[in-house]
Amino acid sequence: MKALSGPVLGRAALFVLLITGASVESAMAELDANAALEVLKRNDCTKCHSVKKSKNGPSYQKVSEKYKGDGAAEDKIYKHLTTSPKVKLEDGTTEEHKKIDITDPGQLKEFIRWILSL
Ligand code: HEC
Repeated sequence: MKALSGPVLGRAALFVLLITGASVESAMAELDANAALEVLKRNDCTKCHSVKKSKNGPSYQKVSEKYKGDGAAEDKIYKHLTTSPKVKLEDGTTEEHKKIDITDPGQLKEFIRWILSL
């Protein structure tokens, strides 16, 4: 009896862990998305970007796509959002990219990870 119940129970526990782990994760992603959308609105990023549609700037899904598999993606975007590089808009004009108002590095990284998750 003992030899049987061990592995069976272990497998059940793992199953429960997988299920609850997944739902906690998606609840957190939802919270992050709301916070991230607030940041975009507050900073006027929505003037040039949206999650799905490219406007004057690329959609965030396109940005995420571009950086797939790039281990340095987080650092590159961090730099982009904190140093005002010159960017070319869809209409051909150039201007300095807007600096984001998040000053806490941890929070900014969290925001960047949200973009890369799209
Ligand atoms: C005036 C228009 C404009 C505004 C406002 C703007 N962006 Fe951009 N953004 C651009 C353009 C154009 C690019 C494309 C730059 C390129 O690929 O050279 C870009 C690129 C990016 C990228 C991709 C960078 C990369 O390395 O490929 C991110 C991320 C980004 N913007 C985030 C933001 C955030 C966050 C805000 C608000 C704080 C913001 N942008 C405000 C025009 C804008």
